[in-house]
Amino acid sequence: MASSSVDPVFTIADIRAAAARNLDPKWLQYLNEGAMDLITVKANESAYDRYRIMPRILRDVAQVDPSTTVFGAKVSFPFGFSPAAMHCLAHPDGEVATSRAAAKAGIAMGLSHWATKSLEDVKQASEDLGATNPYGIQTSGATKKDEIVGLVKRASKAGYRSLLVTVDAPTIGRRLNEYRNGIDLPKGLSFPNLSVSPENFRAIVRDASTTFSDFLPWLDSVVPDDMEIWLKGIYTAEDVILAASYRCVRGVIVSNHGGRQLDGAPATFEALPDCAAAVRSLNAGRAPKDKLMLGIDGGIRRGSDIFKAIAFGADICFAGRVPIWALAYNGQAGVERALELLKDEFEMCMCLAGCKTLQDIGLDSLALVEGGAPGLIKRLSKL
Ligand SMILES: Cc1cc2nc3c(=O)[nH]c(=O)nc-3n(C[C@H](O)[C@H](O)[C@H](O)COP(=O)(O)O)c2cc1C
Repeated sequence: MASSSVDPVFTIADIRAAAARNLDPKWLQYLNEGAMDLITVKANESAYDRYRIMPRILRDVAQVDPSTTVFGAKVSFPFGFSPAAMHCLAHPDGEVATSRAAAKAGIAMGLSHWATKSLEDVKQASEDLGATNPYGIQTSGATKKDEIVGLVKRASKAGYRSLLVTVDAPTIGRRLNEYRNGIDLPKGLSFPNLSVSPENFRAIVRDASTTFSDFLPWLDSVVPDDMEIWLKGIYTAEDVILAASYRCVRGVIVSNHGGRQLDGAPATFEALPDCAAAVRSLNAGRAPKDKLMLGIDGGIRRGSDIFKAIAFGADICFAGRVPIWALAYNGQAGVERALELLKDEFEMCMCLAGCKTLQDIGLDSLALVEGGAPGLIKRLSKL
């Protein structure tokens, strides 16, 4: 726990290390690990290191503006929280503390339907602070339809303006730590946004037969117009194009569930360029208000990672583990610190790369490290 007035953590890596000291080893493994041999978990983080950011000089960067719009609301910088289950495992205030920190920082928050606080309390935590940061509620393409309908009604009433539909989990990946350790919910925790009981939540039935053509028109018919539909877990240009053929889809998130589903899938940052190219060509023929939004999550640990993803065409980056590590480190104050660090790092990158606004960040801001050879880089060209 932080005790002095100077916060002793200066990077997300520091926060992760502090969390490791505070968490039960079983829950630490549940949080940090993923499917099988963790190839994709590790690749998600290391993929960012293959690129360098090109400094630019003598430009007016006295004031950079990292703000943008997501889920229909202004946010302070292009970063938000991915929906991730059970924040109360890390801290008793759970998703409510995460929400307060998100509200104070003015960022977007996705809430898992496996959250351990009610969606109403999570949204209220932001309203109590007078904040207008946007919220998305997550469901899954494998969830029973009556469950989705109930969740959407509650979330819409509570002021959630997007539905994040997880599409990469028709079945659950082979998470070996869960097989070895078991993950029974600790006493006192429950899932107030689902109708499952905490005792036998592992027995929940998933529908792996869902397809684009049966699911999306139905979803469109039950989701109110003021709630954006985003598909989370898209990976290929083909699926971006398919998703976009359903005009109810407002955004797609390149995600591999933080490496918890298909081990061996490429890092999300490696899948981003193809997906971004598809989004760009689709958007060329669309009015600004209908543009498909592109998000990414997986392995984002620094402001420079956010910068690189924006350079490749992402509109917004998300992280799932970061707020949970931060909660385990120091509750709400820990999450506030994580957001302060990421925003400072991102603004610093913009400044030193000579980018005043997000529109200035492009592929010409990056270089690829070729073959790992020191000093050998290839500049990327502007699109
Ligand atoms: C502990 C944990 C629980 C998660 N629970 C969910 C979930 O309930 N629904 C979901 O769509 N994704 C879930 N995810 C995946 C995240 O939404 C996100 O895709 C992933 O964490 C991004 O990778 P990162 O943790 O490296 O940022 C979970 C991830 C973690 C680490």
